[in-house]
Amino acid sequence: MTHSTHSSETVRIELADRSYDIVIGENLLGQASSYLALPKASAALIVSNTTIAPLYEAALKQALTGHYKTIHSVHLPDGEAHKDWVTLNLIFNTLLGRGCDRKTVLFALGGGVVGDMTGFAAASFMRGVPFVQVPTTLLAQVDSSVGGKTAINHPMGKNMVGAFYQPQRVLCDLTVLQTLPPRELSAGLAEIIKYGPIADMAFFDWIEANIEALKACDAKALAYAVKRSCEIKAHVVGQDERESGLRAILNLGHTFGHAIEAGLGYGEWLHGEAVGCGMVMAAHLSKEMGLIEGHFVKRLTTLIECAGLPVRGPVLDAKDNASKYLALMAHDKKSVAGDIRFVLIEGPGKARVSAAPEAVVRDVIDRCCA
Ligand code: NAD
Ligand code: GLY
Repeated sequence: MTHSTHSSETVRIELADRSYDIVIGENLLGQASSYLALPKASAALIVSNTTIAPLYEAALKQALTGHYKTIHSVHLPDGEAHKDWVTLNLIFNTLLGRGCDRKTVLFALGGGVVGDMTGFAAASFMRGVPFVQVPTTLLAQVDSSVGGKTAINHPMGKNMVGAFYQPQRVLCDLTVLQTLPPRELSAGLAEIIKYGPIADMAFFDWIEANIEALKACDAKALAYAVKRSCEIKAHVVGQDERESGLRAILNLGHTFGHAIEAGLGYGEWLHGEAVGCGMVMAAHLSKEMGLIEGHFVKRLTTLIECAGLPVRGPVLDAKDNASKYLALMAHDKKSVAGDIRFVLIEGPGKARVSAAPEAVVRDVIDRCCA
């Protein structure tokens, strides 16, 4: 369900007593009214990082001043390589060091890394405190801040330790995307493109027609892309919050992508870059499994390339690249009893999760890696 006011639009994510609003609009972050009707508390903690805090923390703090007596902050080191126990503990150290209680509200001010870690901290501090997502990357606005997946990485696998824990609100301020580096914008486009093949081919057509506007950070195009992405994600999560089935389709490209991220070392390729390339590999696999035609693989590859994303996988092991990918993918959370599962495109706009013969997967890896 979407409704709009003069300056913002709201997508509701329906999850019974865990339902919440995703508010999308310009200049929201610094407005006190954006934070009305959140759980009452005397203290808030803004979790951010060393890159984002200097840009946006003062405005957020100012807007929260009327709502909380005390506003603490913690600045995490920037980057996927820091999405780990050591960094997570900085949040707990601050919460405990400042005497925060179980009503303290956490604000995740940042991209997916800050959002995933803040959410996990909120899920576990004193067995659960409220938190609000204030996503500042395109990727976080269209995907990671929505739906309640929170996690940190383990050297053996991506997002391996975490919890399902829903935020109280998601505030997508489109204005902050203007400071996002182009490479990060492209990474966000990967997760937007994803929604086409799995759920909505009319949206896919729209992305193809508007890819240059999106890359140029056109405000109108971004507003529509964020809204439509959140609507699709809210619809899927509303039916399957804890990924017992349907929600796994949101992982198109992620089985290959997570292997790329872990195999190269976290942060070498951006998450969105790995997902973009992973979608190309998943499309080839879907074709080899007889599900889609070659022309759709080509269409998807062209769009991903136009978005400024890599379309050839990296070689992770010069001696036996396919075995390296397979070993990394075996740790994927969708694996069942060691069997790797892939999100396959069943036909444009429709996806399913399925195992695939190892020989076919090996062949796809060999053909798709540089
Ligand atoms: P990120 O959080 O690392 O942010 C990307 C970079 O942009 C960082 O250097 C950050 O400091 C900087 N940045 C953020 N906002 C900025 C702004 N407005 N202006 C200038 N610089 C800014 O990366 P990301 O792509 O946002 O998120 C990737 C993470 O999200 C991965 O860890 C991935 O696993 C996770 N993720 C989670 C979910 C989920 O459902 N929870 C879904 C998708 C991705
Ligand atoms: N990004 C995949 C999910 O939220 O399920």
